Amino acid sequence: MDWQDVLARRSGRMKASEIRELLKLLDQPDILSFAGGIPDPALFPAEAFRAAMNDILTGPESGAALQYSVSEGYRPLRDWIAGQMTALGIPCGAANIFITSGSQQALDYLGKLLLDPGDTAMVAWPTYMGALGAFNAYEPRYARLDPQANRPAADLAAEAKAAGGRVKFAYLSADFANPTGETLDRAGREALLDMADALDCAVIEDAAYQALRYDGDPVPPILALELARKGDLDACRTVYCGSFSKSLSPGLRVGWVCAATPVIQRLVLLKQAGDLHSPTLNQIATARVAAAQFDAHVARLRAAYGARRDAMLAALARHMPAGVRWTRPEGGMFVWLTLPEGMDGADLLARSLASEKVAFVPGRAFFADGSNGNTLRLSFSCASESMIDEGISRLGRLIRSA
Ligand SMILES: Cc1ncc(COP(=O)(O)O)c(C=O)c1O
Repeated sequence: MDWQDVLARRSGRMKASEIRELLKLLDQPDILSFAGGIPDPALFPAEAFRAAMNDILTGPESGAALQYSVSEGYRPLRDWIAGQMTALGIPCGAANIFITSGSQQALDYLGKLLLDPGDTAMVAWPTYMGALGAFNAYEPRYARLDPQANRPAADLAAEAKAAGGRVKFAYLSADFANPTGETLDRAGREALLDMADALDCAVIEDAAYQALRYDGDPVPPILALELARKGDLDACRTVYCGSFSKSLSPGLRVGWVCAATPVIQRLVLLKQAGDLHSPTLNQIATARVAAAQFDAHVARLRAAYGARRDAMLAALARHMPAGVRWTRPEGGMFVWLTLPEGMDGADLLARSLASEKVAFVPGRAFFADGSNGNTLRLSFSCASESMIDEGISRLGRLIRSA
């Protein structure tokens, strides 16, 4: 059978993620990898999860834990998350919280909910490539989101209309973005809300790394700033996507959406048609571990990752030749490098793997238009401080010779 003849049009925009391919390299012992943006498994609260799961499966909740459950998610977990959101300046209750199978599922569902083919999705340049992967299936056109310097809303709206749709949302990570590590300041968040009001579009706030701040002052979430303006969560256009992947465990696949109830209700319908609900046992265990030790565990992560961030910035300062620029993230897992004009991150990776045994992610895949080949993403989350210095020294040598 020729599958090309039966594939839907949307499948034409699906392609393998460069990151997924690269993750295979982590298994090769001689590669120093700054490629995968994943948490360090040595820092997982494995013992807490083992005890929680054991307790759940041997106690009165075992039946419920192994049974089908409601699409909204496990109520005690939603209550705990509502408490966290309240502490972040977004007072809300369980009715505003929807549990997802990771925040990736939220991005897919929001694409499904909001995008018709030809609609415009505004995304940062560069942006999380998994978001592009999620949205691509719904056939949007992408426009550049630059909250500090956006073009007039009327121009953006006219271009979206000429392309056959309208601007449906602006998507961004305001804290420690993947791939740049950068944080959008308060003025930028306010400007983004002004733009969204003018365009009458949604804002998707991807807060996957929100808990991982190593220094600097926290900036209120975009949803908190909007709530301060409008006074009612149900009047807000911002949809906040949270995740336990970077704070507790990505393998359990537990994330959440905090938003106006009309959005939550529609997401619940999508989940009923998608996977019914996220794994019940994982939600109950996450609720228990989070309630018992979220803050203490995140404090340990901040200390460990913060030291690795420092080691990477120090190594870059020591080993990078003139003409290479990089970001100085206050949190998260990534540093973003800009190479001299004309150099290509993908070519550099091929050479680096062959001669220096250092892996990273070439930057092009993070741009909706595939531009800016002279960039690359480094992750410090899984590297020891000595390995960081050695890997960056090798990379600096290669870039200097190139
Ligand atoms: C910015 C961003 N958003 C969302 C995700 C998806 O995370 P998860 O589905 O594990 O919550 C990731 C994963 O790396 C990410 O970097």
